[in-house]
Amino acid sequence: MMIEANRKIILDCDPGHDDAIAIMLAGKNSKLELLGITVESGNQTLEKTGLNALNLCQYLNIDVPVCLGASNPIIKEVEVCEAIHGETGLDGFDFPNLEISYDPRHAVDFIIETILKSDKKVTMVTTGPMTNLALAIRIEPNILNNIEEVVIMGGSYSNGNVTPAAEFNIYCDPEAAHIVFNSGLKVTMVGLDVTRKVLVLPEIVDRMTKIDNNASKLFTKLMIVFNENQKRVFGFDGAPLHDPVTIAYLIDPTVIDVDFVHCEIDISNGSSYGRTNCDIFDYLKLKKNTFVAKNIDVDKFWNIIEEALRMY
Ligand code: RIB
Ligand code: CA
Repeated sequence: MMIEANRKIILDCDPGHDDAIAIMLAGKNSKLELLGITVESGNQTLEKTGLNALNLCQYLNIDVPVCLGASNPIIKEVEVCEAIHGETGLDGFDFPNLEISYDPRHAVDFIIETILKSDKKVTMVTTGPMTNLALAIRIEPNILNNIEEVVIMGGSYSNGNVTPAAEFNIYCDPEAAHIVFNSGLKVTMVGLDVTRKVLVLPEIVDRMTKIDNNASKLFTKLMIVFNENQKRVFGFDGAPLHDPVTIAYLIDPTVIDVDFVHCEIDISNGSSYGRTNCDIFDYLKLKKNTFVAKNIDVDKFWNIIEEALRMY
């Protein structure tokens, strides 16, 4: 399946070290038209994830609207991820003085307005909790008619990374994920099952450092801190570079293999609260609703990352 040139996308995120690389990947690729970046709380509070998004856009010269969105999940309270992303949410890089500012529209309003007025269907990419998208769907269901698909970093058909059952982006706002997965939209789920195969190992850091431009300097400094934190928390020899896999898929869909399955979000408030229950073997014979990533071409992924860094 070929992805048509100039696919219009909105990137909804919670920067975050891996969100930062997703922004970098989406910012300059000719196959993608980045319409805007919308932000919510997740890896850090909204105040911090928003500033991180602005700093990244200014530093990488990505000139798109940046809109602040939900400061809290729909039902739960905010649970940030300081152990992995640090006190700022993007520890490891000193940005120049910030001179750009937010688009005044709330992220939910921006998503609704942009999708309704677009002359082509828009692809939503979420690399954080799905609060903004879920609220937009509930407030203005007509956007469903002009969304090509939703590509999400989140979930896992195996184990989680916050509880044994749940992955962080879903666990932060399971009710939001439930709304999106049951919206009728085409959902492509890029979960831990594939993102834990693209580890920022020392040879990857060395490879990207050799590019020696502003983007590679950002990559190297952020990944050094990201790696240290992931090693301390999970014992990984390299951080899983979760979020950019969504954008890499839009740039080259052959980078991942997907299975079409029924997936249900556990919103039962039990020990599996926030789990993406993917019926890989179709036990329940329920209506399928999710293209879940099963495998990733690791070499192809890192080539996409290197190619993107060289565009800056
Ligand atoms: O579980 C990984 C996800 O949670 C990534 O999006 C990371 O940025 C955090 O938000
Ligand atoms: Ca994220």
